Parts: sequence; structure tokens; C-alpha cells
Amino acid sequence: MSNRTFTMIKPDAVGSNYIGGILDKINAGGFKIIAMKYTQLSKEQAGKFYEVHSARPFYGELVDFMSSGPIVAAILEKDNAVADFRTLIGATNPAEAAEGTIRKQFAKSIGENAVHGSDSDENAKIEGDFFFSMTERF
Ligand code: CMP
Repeated sequence: MSNRTFTMIKPDAVGSNYIGGILDKINAGGFKIIAMKYTQLSKEQAGKFYEVHSARPFYGELVDFMSSGPIVAAILEKDNAVADFRTLIGATNPAEAAEGTIRKQFAKSIGENAVHGSDSDENAKIEGDFFFSMTERF
């Protein structure tokens, strides 16, 4: 079990000025920010990041949305980081997200769902390496 996960605050949440509110919940949840970056993905980069979903019917919509505006990417540290962060963000569909979760409070819809969280230790490493070089994280 690794102690790191990767997150993005998505364009819907950045556009709604929720960066501060979401970072507060991340810190209150016991996560330490190890690396952080405000950036915007090109369509090509978003397509590559979400390549595992390329066969899904929502892939085109997902790539368009994730490249539509700025995002905040971050690497987070905590014991049991991947699983605990997925608990903190709540279900993919905010209509099903538990009370107190980030998606319950900030997400608009299943597609525009405020935050991403890695689904495994392996993907946390791949996704963190996608955004951050060795000199940008600690
Ligand atoms: P994320 O955790 O970033 O990983 C894949 C994303 O695909 C997911 O969050 C959702 O934003 C998006 N997604 C999943 N299911 C759907 C769907 N049915 N329609 C649109 N987007 C979806």
C-alpha cells in the first residue's frame, strides 16, 4: 500500500471558484500536498491522460470537458491515500455521493464532477508522473 495519490480539481470546480473550498477539505481530511500545479490540458493531453477510458461512450465528452478550462493537479500524501481519498471525494455521480464528501458539496454532474482521484497505487504513480517531474515534487 502506497501513501500517495493524485488528484485534479476539474474545470467545472475551478470555474466556480471552488479551489479554496476543495483544498480546505483535502487538508481537513488529513492529506498533505506534496506537489501542486495550476494548468490547462490540451485536447491531446486530456486524451492521453484518460486513454484507459477511450472505448467508453463518454470518452469524447470527457476529453472535451477536461481540456475546456484550467485545472489544479496535485499529489497528496496520507496513509492509505488512494482508498481514503476516494472515500473523501465520494461517488463518481454526485447524486450518489455521501453527505460530507467533496463531490456532494461541489460537483455538478457525473461528467462535471469537481475532482479526480486515482483508483489504484499504480495509477497514482502514473498520473503523478504525467504532471510532475522529479524536481517538482518532494
Ligand atoms: P474521473 O474519476 O476523473 O475518471 C473518469 C471520469 O469519467 C469520471 O471521473 C467522470 O467524470 C467521467 N465519467 C464517468 N462516467 C461518465 C458518464 N456516464 N458520462 C460522462 N462522464 C463520465
